Amino acid sequence: MRKMRTSLRPWRAAATALATVLLVGSVAACGNSDTGGDAGSGSDKLVLGFSQVGAESGWRTANTTSIKEAAAEAGIELKFDDAQQKQENQIKAIRNYIQQKVDVIAFSPVVESGWDTVLKEAKDAGIPVILTDRAVDSADKSLYKTFLGSDFVKEGRLSGEWLVENKKSATGPVNIVELQGTTGSAPANDRKKGFAEAIAANPNLKIVASQSGDFTRAGGKQVMEQFLRANPKIDVLFAHNDDMGLGALEAITAAGKTPGKDITIITIDAVKDGMQALADGKFNFIAECSPLLGPQLMDLAKKVHAGEEVPPRIETEETTFTPEQAKEALPNRKY
Ligand code: AHR
Repeated sequence: MRKMRTSLRPWRAAATALATVLLVGSVAACGNSDTGGDAGSGSDKLVLGFSQVGAESGWRTANTTSIKEAAAEAGIELKFDDAQQKQENQIKAIRNYIQQKVDVIAFSPVVESGWDTVLKEAKDAGIPVILTDRAVDSADKSLYKTFLGSDFVKEGRLSGEWLVENKKSATGPVNIVELQGTTGSAPANDRKKGFAEAIAANPNLKIVASQSGDFTRAGGKQVMEQFLRANPKIDVLFAHNDDMGLGALEAITAAGKTPGKDITIITIDAVKDGMQALADGKFNFIAECSPLLGPQLMDLAKKVHAGEEVPPRIETEETTFTPEQAKEALPNRKY
């Protein structure tokens, strides 16, 4: 008997210790659910899990910097993941954030479709989601709290309207080639749409070739080379971002043509390198898309975490630039 008693003591002690751990754990879990979850860092800072598209362009680099700086400024613990332009990587990152019980998830979706399942998982876990920069096409708007970013259709439309005005005295066909952004992404879909709607005002303006350059310089150069080989007369290039336009400049110059003169070039973004090309007369027009979303995102993260109502869509203020305006703006351009 005695012996048996002695052998039970360590077991009892272990059971007591385990019960204590479980109790403490469950109290902590209750605290987490009050605050929308705790990623377990031990700090009481709001934890934001952010899944970035990648590092495909100057715009994206500026956007990442803005988000990291704003998080530090706002005292928010940022968990950052670069998806390298792959949707499956973003889904994996979001699932990791759910598992870690972060307080808020934000992401810039690489493409528009295919998010319902993972967004539902976040909703079921009680973690609010903010879309930044790019939208999703989910019919169920309750899967996310808000969208913060640009009106991409407007950017395309402003580009097209400028072209209609610039070519109003053309008497014959004006051949346009279009470098599209990442296939299936909101900016590629919307900019294409806005531009096509605007140029419909002048039947002389015709898109003779349109292909994706994936928002990269390398993609822009490679696709422009193909366009130049296949189309003897190209009057206009509409590139969905500066980087593809900058890549295309190399192809145009190599083909013995003068960018900005032989071929009118319109791009979107207005990052420093794009603005320099515009000031130098190599580009002719840029519609701005602002990457400086960090401070607004942090405000929204705090609000949704606190359970405050936020508007379903918040659009960034943007402008357009001619070469003269680019020269003026360049000295103060931050990115
Ligand atoms: O979603 C915004 C777009 O993505 C920017 O125009 C482009 O440069 C970036 O890669």
